[in-house]
Amino acid sequence: MTWTRAGHRKWGILPLVALTLVLATHNTAHGKVQHSPGNPLPEFGDEIGNITVIKGRDIIFTCVVKHLGPYKVGWVKADTKAIQAIHHQVVTHNPRVSVTYRDRTTWNLHIRNVQEDDRGVYMCQVNTDPMIAKMAHLDVVVPPEIVDNETSGETTVEEGNSVTLTCKARGFPHPVVSWRREDNLKIVLRDQASKKVTSTEGEQLLLTRVKRSDMGPYLCIAKNGIPPSVSKRIMLRVNFAPVLEVPVHMIGSPLSKEVTVRCKVESSPRAVTTWRREPGEQMIISSRKYNVSEEQQGFYVTQMSLTIRNFTKSDATTYRCVASNSLGASASSVQVYEIQPQKPRVTKEEDESRLDNHIPHGVSDNDKDDLDDYGDLDDSVNNYLDSFPPGGVLEPEGEREGLAEDQNLPKKSSGGITFPFLNSSGAVGGVGWWWAWLVGGVGWWWWVVGCVGCWWAAWVLPTL
Ligand SMILES: *[C@@H]1O[C@H](CO)[C@@H](O)[C@H](O)[C@H]1NC(C)=O
Ligand SMILES: *[C@@H]1O[C@H](CO)[C@@H](O)[C@H](O)[C@H]1NC(C)=O
Ligand SMILES: *[C@@H]1O[C@H](CO)[C@@H](O)[C@H](O)[C@H]1NC(C)=O
Ligand SMILES: *[C@@H]1O[C@H](CO)[C@@H](O)[C@H](O)[C@H]1NC(C)=O
Ligand SMILES: *[C@@H]1O[C@H](CO)[C@@H](O)[C@H](O)[C@H]1NC(C)=O
Repeated sequence: MTWTRAGHRKWGILPLVALTLVLATHNTAHGKVQHSPGNPLPEFGDEIGNITVIKGRDIIFTCVVKHLGPYKVGWVKADTKAIQAIHHQVVTHNPRVSVTYRDRTTWNLHIRNVQEDDRGVYMCQVNTDPMIAKMAHLDVVVPPEIVDNETSGETTVEEGNSVTLTCKARGFPHPVVSWRREDNLKIVLRDQASKKVTSTEGEQLLLTRVKRSDMGPYLCIAKNGIPPSVSKRIMLRVNFAPVLEVPVHMIGSPLSKEVTVRCKVESSPRAVTTWRREPGEQMIISSRKYNVSEEQQGFYVTQMSLTIRNFTKSDATTYRCVASNSLGASASSVQVYEIQPQKPRVTKEEDESRLDNHIPHGVSDNDKDDLDDYGDLDDSVNNYLDSFPPGGVLEPEGEREGLAEDQNLPKKSSGGITFPFLNSSGAVGGVGWWWAWLVGGVGWWWWVVGCVGCWWAAWVLPTL
């Protein structure tokens, strides 16, 4: 008897009961069903054994039957009742299924390139009456995968608004999705107290009241315990109008030298930037005279710089940096003035470092008047430094130079001047001044008394 192709299809959809029937009929037809009384009935050997397999791999179920005699072994998928094979013949139309056997005891069902449809319970049956069967589960696991067309791509939001990033994952078991920033900065969830679910786990990441610092590449990571886990990078852009910051508002330069003025721009999308000079707001472009350049730092910061070569009197004016994008525009200015050659060009930073280098390390050789002067100076320095607005503006030239040339300025400190010989970590305030004077002044006095005494003893006494 031969199984036709059509026959295979027909058997493939027959219910389980049918198999028993088929096997019975099949055998009867050949007249071999009758069980010889002397022979033992068929029985199963070992368990078939459950199999868990990663989609795409091949598997083999092995069914061991002893004393098969004239009976036949069939393979059925229990949930769909689809007959896979009978004896040496494959019945299902699934081309990935095949059977092998050895010695009429070992019966193998092969499934190549296992698919999720193949998941289920398989039965190895023998057509005795009543029929005997062994079952085994086939579990098919699928590594996680990100569904691109249902996952966010590059996303743009205006500062202050909310945004949801979506990452759709599939796999078996169903993957868990979590989020992190590719730059490893912390994801800021601002609405944790509200009813809205905000968490860095789940297929959606809700960011509320976004700030520019939220801008950057995010990663959604899908894991289900089956390697490899997968991730997708989603760029989040937070748009806002340009903001300009000028580190130094006034810069002095000697004639015929080179001077550079700078502006820091925060903007997204990236701003169009220009330098203009007063009077007339003429736009400046790179030339032999000027070098206009900018440097992008991070996602939304741009450093603008303008170098003026061979500084002349007519270059001493105000320069404006202007930045604009689709959300607005902003401008700031820097004044460049002439200073005399030889005099060092001083910026606020340099002023401070000079002061740092001249902290008095002890005042034992100062008398009371000196100390009083220090007190006055300390106040004047504090006033001087306090007069800088946060951005750091230089005072007009006269005052600035006067201070820059004074090598003995005390440090601007929170509570007076530090006396290492008293307490290296503490600053001495009002009472400390007197301590310092006592120790310093009296110490000096004893030296004088001592020396006068020596002189007296050595030179004057003998002559008496
Ligand atoms: C096979 O898996 C099923 C369901 O998970 C379970 O009930 C059964 O005990 C397992 N059989 C063996 C031999 O592990
Ligand atoms: C995504 O693509 C799949 C096929 O690749 C399609 O079946 C599904 O409908 C698509 N989903 C959406 C939301 O377009
Ligand atoms: C202009 O300035 C930038 C930044 O300081 C520098 O990298 C560049 O080489 C300069 N270009 C010229 C032509 O000097
Ligand atoms: C600098 O400018 C002055 C005045 O414009 C000019 O005489 C001089 O040749 C310039 N020097 C250089 C090096 O360009
Ligand atoms: C300086 O004084 C402070 C508080 O008075 C004290 O904690 C610290 O240990 C002192 N340091 C030294 C070096 O004596």
